[in-house]
Amino acid sequence: MQIAILAAGQGKRMNSARPKVLHPIAGRPILAHILDTARSLSPRKLCVVYGHGGEQVRAALAAPDVLWAHQAQQLGTGHAVAQAMPLFEDQGSVMILMGDVPLIRPATLAALAAAAGPDRVAVLTVLATDPKGLGRIVRDEAGRVVRIVEDKDATAEERAIREINSGIFCVPAGRLRGWLGKLSNHNAQGEYYLPDIVAMAVAEGIEVIAQQTEHEWETLGINTKAQLAALERIHQHNLAAALLDAGVTILDPARIDIRGELICGRDVEIDVGCVFEGRVELGDDVKLGAYSVLRNVKVGAATRVAPFCHFEDAEIGPSGVLGPFARLRPGTVLAEDVHIGNFVEVKNSQIAAHSKANHLAYVGDATVGSRVNIGAGAITCNYDGANKHRTIIEDDAFIGSDTQLVAPVRVGKGATIGAGTTLTRDAPADALTVSRARQTSFTGWQRPKRLDKK
Ligand code: UD1
Ligand code: CA
Repeated sequence: MQIAILAAGQGKRMNSARPKVLHPIAGRPILAHILDTARSLSPRKLCVVYGHGGEQVRAALAAPDVLWAHQAQQLGTGHAVAQAMPLFEDQGSVMILMGDVPLIRPATLAALAAAAGPDRVAVLTVLATDPKGLGRIVRDEAGRVVRIVEDKDATAEERAIREINSGIFCVPAGRLRGWLGKLSNHNAQGEYYLPDIVAMAVAEGIEVIAQQTEHEWETLGINTKAQLAALERIHQHNLAAALLDAGVTILDPARIDIRGELICGRDVEIDVGCVFEGRVELGDDVKLGAYSVLRNVKVGAATRVAPFCHFEDAEIGPSGVLGPFARLRPGTVLAEDVHIGNFVEVKNSQIAAHSKANHLAYVGDATVGSRVNIGAGAITCNYDGANKHRTIIEDDAFIGSDTQLVAPVRVGKGATIGAGTTLTRDAPADALTVSRARQTSFTGWQRPKRLDKK
């Protein structure tokens, strides 16, 4: 099998400077999805026909197994396939995929290839809800496919046909080469239409199979931002459905966005509005509150995340308690039963088991031991304007509220730092360290009185 993906069109109706096939579905270019699906068929050759925004498309999707055929002028889908033919051999067949139809499934393509066999033409069709603008499958009285007519060339009677051409074909390579050479552009759009090969095959007595798929969404193309958004929702719905099947509780499958890989253990619960990017792993019994964004994160079993959290490139241990409004930045590693509460930011820090920073703290470039309590408003001053320095807090330390830990600095095991301390030197183990002006009270002091104005 050899595969050509047609992706030279401009996508004018997207109203965007970005080439159409680079717009994202689930965070990845449309074309990347189609390339992955194509690869799942293990083709001997995989060729993308590109044109508009060419260099940008090639740069974004370059891979050792992808061949590129340039179509300088978009003269039609038949002309586009012709640009790939010099790269293909006459043995076997050529499958043609549309660069703007991203949700087609591997199983559907495999079935199409099987229907085509070595010497038939197979076209993937569907009964469209709204066939407007699409090519119609014309059959004779016996139900045999005769030809495909484009919407703009169709008679009123033909326009009433609901079975449409998905644009996806599987064709014997040698015959395809011959037919492409004979295409004409005498039609309403002045283009070389790939679907015209159907009538040519019929004329030569080659069997044409119209293979209907039951899922219209697989064949939907993207021409506008509205269609991009619609397909994104369909794709997300499919991803959510697969998770539900696997036993994940998703409170509303219509309100989840997975832009990468989401791996869930048993009895995971995900509330509405969560966004997953990159690779996210949720352990058994994890409960994720509403409206959180997780990017490249591993969450240990039984951890609870309250709403409105943002985690990126972080690892969270089991039985953690996080949020609401917690932020974990790259390089954060939390051990078992760590609590990170509201408006606490952690960056490039390791926090050992049972430690807590429950409110309004910044922990940056720190190594924090076990059972440490970091009070409200405590911050590491890790940056001196030129370099970053580490703060080390040993096991069982207690960091009072509103403390500034001016790094590099170390808080010894079991040390207590009094509230409001600006710690510029190491604090010894087990002692109370406090830096703060001594509290004074003035008895007999009188509040100023307001002078009466005349
Ligand atoms: C095409 C089919 C139509 C089918 C529909 C399904 C033709 C003539 N019509 O129509 O029967 O129902 O798809 O979606 O084939 N492309 C190129 N070079 C070109 C022209 C197109 O690479 O010169 C690429 C486009 O980038 C796109 C794909 O081919 O990815 C389809 O082209 P498009 O112009 O969208 O065809 P439709 O009018 O949708
Ligand atoms: Ca199209």
